[in-house]
Amino acid sequence: MTRVIRFHDFGEPLEVLREERIEIPDPPSDRIRVRVLATGLNPADWELCRGFRPGTLPRGIGYDVAGVVEAAGPGRDNVRIGDVVFGTADFAGQPSAGAADAAILNNWVPVPEQLDAAQAATLPMVVQTAAWTLELIALRPGATLLVHGAGGMVGYAAAQMALRRGARVIATAGPTFTPDLEQFGARVTTYGEGLSERVRALTGGADVDFVLDTPRPSPGTLPDLIALAGGDPRRVVTVSNHDEARKLGARVNLDELRPGLTPLATLLPEYATLAARGEFRLPIAKTFPLGQWRDAVRLSLSGHPHGKVVLTP
Ligand SMILES: NC(=O)c1ccc[n+]([C@@H]2O[C@H](COP(=O)([O-])OP(=O)(O)OC[C@H]3O[C@@H](n4cnc5c(N)ncnc54)[C@H](OP(=O)(O)O)[C@@H]3O)[C@@H](O)[C@H]2O)c1
Repeated sequence: MTRVIRFHDFGEPLEVLREERIEIPDPPSDRIRVRVLATGLNPADWELCRGFRPGTLPRGIGYDVAGVVEAAGPGRDNVRIGDVVFGTADFAGQPSAGAADAAILNNWVPVPEQLDAAQAATLPMVVQTAAWTLELIALRPGATLLVHGAGGMVGYAAAQMALRRGARVIATAGPTFTPDLEQFGARVTTYGEGLSERVRALTGGADVDFVLDTPRPSPGTLPDLIALAGGDPRRVVTVSNHDEARKLGARVNLDELRPGLTPLATLLPEYATLAARGEFRLPIAKTFPLGQWRDAVRLSLSGHPHGKVVLTP
């Protein structure tokens, strides 16, 4: 029997999540089962608990997983038992996910030798969100991108990726990651009251070409961000303020995701290799043993975890 953290009803995460022991089945075709080494948590886990993307219940939390392959489904001869891999839990197709001692994965690649399993387990959701959203913007070298909320992990990743593409990056962040972001090459200011003036002080009064809005939902900031993009809402894309963006004519990344954006099979090895070389990084705020999952959930729900929250066995 395997420990899993999952929910049987929709509601607030700390009210609906339960620790249970269940039998994890052999993986179906195109899936593997891993013994979990580390699972990264994301704000999306709490949205799933609250009913975003409703589906069959019970369901688990924990999308980003690193683990040791225990079993492979039919049609998967290219993976060996004992391989250390990382990827995404089949959270929608299985009654449990990565916050568990074992999990069924639907995408995976090897963890490079120089990369710690916990570090690998920080990557998938943040990398795919940041990379796909930057592709939607079609960011060109030399363009100025304002990453609002770069102290959050999607923004922190997007700032690094945009700089690698040759963009000029202005980032808003609190003090925790300002030094990191400046070291990557971004110009950084704080978020909150007076944001427009502080950004314009950095641009010499000019507009920015694009804005990527990445904090947790923060109503009321999009009008200022649109003004900074020359008043053109189509130059602003959000990953979190969905309804407000749609009302104002700004872009919502989820509305535009399409097949043909860089596949995970390419993104995961690319960013694992960069992370192993120290050329891309996501900081870990804190690692919790699985049994302390409630503390991990509380830290993430605080809205200010300052890095990734990771569970280990
Ligand atoms: N649409 C998609 O495809 C998609 C995919 C993944 C995530 N998301 C969404 O993207 C959002 C961010 O996710 P994440 O994983 O990056 O979150 P996260 O790492 O948990 O972000 C938390 C950090 O954001 C910063 N922050 C808090 N309040 C802020 C504010 N009002 N303005 C600016 N920054 C603020 C804080 O850092 P500092 O104070 O240190 O700056 C905090 O530590 C979530 O709403 C998530 O659901 C969407």
